[in-house]
Amino acid sequence: MPNMRNILVLTGAGISAESGVATFRGPGGLWEGHRVEDVCTPEALARDPALVHRFYDLRRTALAGVMPNAAHRALARLDAAWPGGLLIVTQNVDDLHERAGARRLLHMHGELLSALCAACGVREPWGDALPPQSECPNCGMLALRPDIVFFGEMPYQMERIEAALAEADLFVSIGTSGAVYPAAGFVRLARHHGADTLEMNLEPSEGSHWFAETRRGPAGRLVPDWVETLLADAG
Ligand code: APR
Repeated sequence: MPNMRNILVLTGAGISAESGVATFRGPGGLWEGHRVEDVCTPEALARDPALVHRFYDLRRTALAGVMPNAAHRALARLDAAWPGGLLIVTQNVDDLHERAGARRLLHMHGELLSALCAACGVREPWGDALPPQSECPNCGMLALRPDIVFFGEMPYQMERIEAALAEADLFVSIGTSGAVYPAAGFVRLARHHGADTLEMNLEPSEGSHWFAETRRGPAGRLVPDWVETLLADAG
């Protein structure tokens, strides 16, 4: 088996679809219910904080009713058993990777179960509704907002992601449309650094042509198959 010491996995909304969490694009997608500009930009938050907070409150409280699926569980198995480097970079803001047991994980677009203070920058675990003008437990300002990276804001931990891409021997993309940068550009960065590349997605994505290998189908079937084979080959 070629040297696959360091693996970087990128996940998108498609990995949570079989758990019943709506994706963003496509029929019935989250954005179909709303214009992005109305619920996921700094301008929207300033213009209509009640609408933005309500949009994320609905998604936060809906998390209680969903469970990780076989794809999340397979990545958690990989996380526990893989002897080399592994980083799961998720664009998702749900907590399904964590609840499946993943540890080597980061959320580049933020997390529903966290509140961010726009005044002092502190993050607070947050499981309930988050009304506008909520008081920050750290600085006391009425400045708590959803801890979500809005369009036009910088994704989190980009230096850590870029360092992992530079070291990756294998870059795997699961359940993302490749529509949003910088995540959509990760496959090219990985290839530039000599990594092998694999995409697992229900349908062709905007970046499929950049991948050395693409597998079509539901993540709940493809990801466990991939993980089992990888761990078996690693011996
Ligand atoms: N298994 C695998 N892939 C699936 C499944 C499934 N069961 N169901 C859907 N998909 C695929 C779709 O074919 C689509 O390509 O998942 C992808 C989901 O794409 P999007 O809805 O665009 O979600 P994502 O790529 O995560 O969006 C990226 O855009 O709106 C912003 O911040 C938001 O993080 C999000 C980012």
